[in-house]
Amino acid sequence: MELLLTGGMGYIGSHTAVSLTLAGHRVVLYDNLVKSAEVMVERLERITGISPLFVSGDVRDTDHLTDTLRHYAIDAVIHFAGLKVVGESLEIPLEYYANNVQGTISLLQAMREVGTRSLVFSSSANVYGEPRYLPVDEAHPTGVTNPYGRTKLHVEEILFDLARSDPSWRIICLRYFNPVGAHESGLIGETPQGIPNNLMPYIARVASGELAELLVFGDDYPTPDGTGVRDFIHVMDLAEGHASAVAYLTGHSGWQAINLGTGQGYSVLEMVRAFEAASGRPVPYRIAPRRPGDSASCYANPEKALRLLDWSARRSLADMCASTWAFQSGSH
Ligand code: NAD
Ligand code: UD1
Repeated sequence: MELLLTGGMGYIGSHTAVSLTLAGHRVVLYDNLVKSAEVMVERLERITGISPLFVSGDVRDTDHLTDTLRHYAIDAVIHFAGLKVVGESLEIPLEYYANNVQGTISLLQAMREVGTRSLVFSSSANVYGEPRYLPVDEAHPTGVTNPYGRTKLHVEEILFDLARSDPSWRIICLRYFNPVGAHESGLIGETPQGIPNNLMPYIARVASGELAELLVFGDDYPTPDGTGVRDFIHVMDLAEGHASAVAYLTGHSGWQAINLGTGQGYSVLEMVRAFEAASGRPVPYRIAPRRPGDSASCYANPEKALRLLDWSARRSLADMCASTWAFQSGSH
């Protein structure tokens, strides 16, 4: 199939581009490079042997998107483009609504114009808010607490209304849990700008010596070792979930929200130990106060993905840490 990946030059989009290319699809990466760089094209070519098509553009530019969809005769779109930092979304909410919500509306208008009706949307477990029960399934009530999460929920609702208004739309919202890790080549991975907010990239920089120590945000949660528990999922498993979602869409119309997680939670201290084992480096840490807004535990019920998409995560925590380390300790 001919697939357009908005935000395809970013962390999850680039790994998904690898999976889709190796599965025989042709991918067009549409990105404004606000959080990525053009060198990605060359890295993807080194991994897959095929140069992906890159189109420089903003998702808010409806005309440019329309031309791109038409020019490449796109069958389906995977919509990764957006801003994703919770803390930043509290400071600059308008930018978040403009990129994530307005950007999606622009994309949908372009898709309607050219008659492309299949869409996979990057949503987040953030839409569930503080878990009321575990594991979190798709029937769990939504309850966002920050502008970033609200943009994801707004978009999901817009997509729901659209699918209900016109049965020719085929839409899947994938609710990612905590994507980590990198492609096994060590050529692509997550490169947060500045000091990382998320656990795994922070641990990687402590192991490499770039940062002195990890602050563990709270050791008094009601979890086995007192530290927060999350559903970390290997980004290549996540990437393969997109290929399965695209395959599902070819035979099904309507709207679905589907969790992409492993169903297994690991604590902050378990992550530290696993990373030390994978890297052979110490990860010094210090217990610090809880981070406001954090929940004790969050992990997925991934059964719907297995049932509908015939997909489940298969890579281990050791794989997640080893690939992160391969990327971190490379020349990037
Ligand atoms: P990323 O920042 O690495 O990639 C996003 C890409 O979108 C970047 O290449 C950026 O340049 C591009 N982009 C941003 N705004 C754009 C615009 N207006 N027009 C065109 N391109 C634009 O992020 P990621 O981790 O790959 O996340 C991809 C998607 O998955 C995002 O929508 C994010 O909200 C969602 N998500 C990510 C996580 C995570 O932990 N990484 C978790 C849940 C959901
Ligand atoms: C965060 C985002 C969420 C996003 C997810 C993607 C917030 C509030 N939520 O969730 O929207 O979808 O990342 O991966 O930002 N921790 C430390 N020290 C650190 C960093 C993290 O102890 O330096 C702990 C946290 O308290 C948490 C766990 O590690 O218990 C995971 O944190 P993080 O990687 O930021 O993920 P989430 O909090 O799940």
